[in-house]
Order: sequence, then C-alpha cells, then structure tokens
Amino acid sequence: MPIKNFLSYLTRTRAADLRVHTLKANYNLTAEQHARCLPLVAGIQRLYDNATAYIDQRGLDRAVALAANEWADLVPVAELKFRTSYNDINYLRLGAPFIGYYLMILDRLDRRRFPGDGGEDLVKELASGSIPDDIVEIHAKRFNVAERLAHLASEYERFVENVPNRYIVAAPRMFGEMGLEMSGVVVNPDTSMCQSRINGLLAGGVIDKLWSDIARRGRARILEVGPGYGALAYALKSIFKDKLECICVDLPSSLYYSALYLSVSRDGDGCHLLEPDGKVPERFDHLFVANYLLDEFAESLGPIDLAVNTMSFPEMSKAQVSFYAEMFRRLLRPDGVVFDENGVFLPHHVDSDAILAAVFPYHKRVASILAIDRNWQSVWSTRYIGEIFDRSDAALNRSD
Ligand SMILES: C[S@@+](CC[C@H](N)C(=O)[O-])C[C@H]1O[C@@H](n2cnc3c(N)ncnc32)[C@H](O)[C@@H]1O
Repeated sequence: MPIKNFLSYLTRTRAADLRVHTLKANYNLTAEQHARCLPLVAGIQRLYDNATAYIDQRGLDRAVALAANEWADLVPVAELKFRTSYNDINYLRLGAPFIGYYLMILDRLDRRRFPGDGGEDLVKELASGSIPDDIVEIHAKRFNVAERLAHLASEYERFVENVPNRYIVAAPRMFGEMGLEMSGVVVNPDTSMCQSRINGLLAGGVIDKLWSDIARRGRARILEVGPGYGALAYALKSIFKDKLECICVDLPSSLYYSALYLSVSRDGDGCHLLEPDGKVPERFDHLFVANYLLDEFAESLGPIDLAVNTMSFPEMSKAQVSFYAEMFRRLLRPDGVVFDENGVFLPHHVDSDAILAAVFPYHKRVASILAIDRNWQSVWSTRYIGEIFDRSDAALNRSD
C-alpha cells in the first residue's frame, strides 16, 4: 500500500473521525412527488399481473420470459402487490438489497459483519409490513453509521484517488440513502460498488468511446439488463446528462425500484415506462422495459452504443443469458460494446463469459493499476475497436 494510502488508512478509518450522512439527513419526497409515483407503480403492477397471459398469448418461451435460476426463488409468478405508501417509496433504498447489502441494517445477511444485532428480524419485519413513521428514530437508536462503515473508508479513498471529479459517483440524498461523507458524496457499499463500475468503464475505454459516439452523433444510447435500483444508470446520466439515453430492462418486480428511483430523482423528466402496444419515444432520458417485452420492442430500442450487465447474468438461467447475448448482438451498432461485471462464485451461477464469448469474438478483461481492484469486468464486441482495445488502462494519468 502506498505511504499516502497507509497514512490515510491510519487517520481516517477510526469511526470517531468519520463524518456521516444519516437517514435523518435525507431530503424527503414531497406529497406531489409521491402522487406522481402512483401511476408508475400501477403500470408496473399491470406489467407484473399480466406477464404470463402476455407471454402465452405471444407464444414466448416461459423459461426465458419468467424469472429463472436464483430469481425464480425470489420472485413469485403471481401474488405480489407493489407498495404505494409514502414511507415505502420515500425509503425505497431500505428495501433494495440488490448486491446483498441491506442498507437498513448497514450489513449483509449472508456474511454478517455485525452478528447478534437482531438485524435479520428487522429486515424480515420491514419486508412483511410497511416502513414505520418512526424509522429515523429506530435507526438512530440501533445503528451507528460511522462504526458500521468505517471499514469502507480506505477502500473508497483508493477508488477515487485518481478519478477526475466529474466521474465521482454522487447518489441522490433521498430514498433513505446513508453512508460516510467522503469527497462530498455519500459512501456505502452500494455507492462504492457503483464507483468501481464507473472506474471500470473509464479504465476500459468505454467512457471515452461514449464521448466520441456523442461527438459524432449528438447522443448515445445504452441498454442495461438487470439494473437493480438503478445506481449505475443514475451515475452515467449524471456524467453524460441529456446526451445519454438509458434503457433499463428488468423483471417487473425489480423494475419497480429502478423506475421509481430514477424517475423521482430526475423529477420524471424524460422517464417512460413501456407497456404492451405502447411506443418507444423518439427521445428519452430513462426508458423502463419489462424483460418479457424485449421481443415486441427490440427493433425500436436499437441501435445501442453500449449494453451493460453487472452481477446478474450468473443469477439467470443459461437460456436467458444466451437470449440477452444474442439481443445485445442484434441491437448494438457495429462499433457498439458490451460492458459486464460477472463471475461464477456460487454453485448455481451460470458462466456468462462462456456465453458472451460465443457471440462476441473480441474480449478485454478490464484492468487498471489506478482505479479498480476487481478483476472480472470485461468489454466485448463483434469488431476490433481501436478506442477500446489499443489501450490497456484508459484511466491512467487522466486529468479531464
Ligand atoms: C444481483 S441484482 C444486480 C443489480 C445491479 N446490476 C447491481 O449490480 O447492483 C440482479 C438483477 O438482475 C435482474 N434480473 C434477474 N433475472 C432477470 C431477467 N430474466 N431479465 C432481466 N433482469 C433480470 C434482477 O431483477 C436484478 O435487477
């Protein structure tokens, strides 16, 4: 570890020295914002309720169009009722553990860092009922944000040490966000993970390529499969602003999170939920598409400049990953690329690299001595693209 990092490790990781952003410090939704969420939730409820009828009527393959593998256990085919109450939406992030991190208890459930704190029961309680009005007090009494996140401080400092300011991820201080206050932004495992992905996109040359796509064509379009609550889409839109159009494709049950998170934080501008027989708008900021509608709308969703998948292909079935790999090939421009971050870590995980490799002959494992320490981010394409493959660490020594 360089001496600078080591010194900062010694000085900054003591919980008492860390500044925090607590649940209480968030901006709350206005009544008007909440009211604007309701039609969106109703649309998602329709997409969920009508999925199987639509799939059967169009003769789609249920094995591809319905949740499979890990997600078959997580998402029932019927019976879900999406939450509409003010608290449930105002604290949306507390119920969105997409990377396995439960913001509510500031811990994971599969590998507890703070065992014996009753966190499992609280998570269960909140999952089965609504978020109570005194959630801020409950949280402040039970969880010390600085203590729980101190371990993250030095890792995060390394993540941003060489990253230009405009590429530093800043999450909305809404929806129950919490974390350390570092570099002027809220830092927790979700936001730090998102930063590592922006770093990977920088180091892999993908961000530079998007800038040149925008310079040539005025705008770029990305399609992300499995965006979770929408952290990466939010970060990318913050960088490229109105020059970027983002399509989020997900199971309706997860689309609930990204559609609310992104629509509210962008005040609904340019955000659309696609429904059967609808139309892809000419221009948009965020477009939310239920996975099973891809077949109907594929032609009008492309061409895309970048397709993204992080930490979700391995949790799907082989047939689903093959479907998406083929869909990416079909929708990407000839010089478009796929960015993915996936690996086989559990017995049920699908080897998505093998499936992508069968479709995309060019592959680069993203590496950077400056900006990331994960080694399973990749860029894939059907052509050799100099901007991507000529350089090995496009994040090196940048000042812009
Ligand atoms: C582990 S989460 C990862 C979320 C986000 N990419 C992240 O890393 O924070 C997996 C994501 O894949 C989505 N997913 C699962 N099956 C899917 C399918 N068949 N089609 C599209 N998305 C799917 C889930 O709904 C969820 O958003």
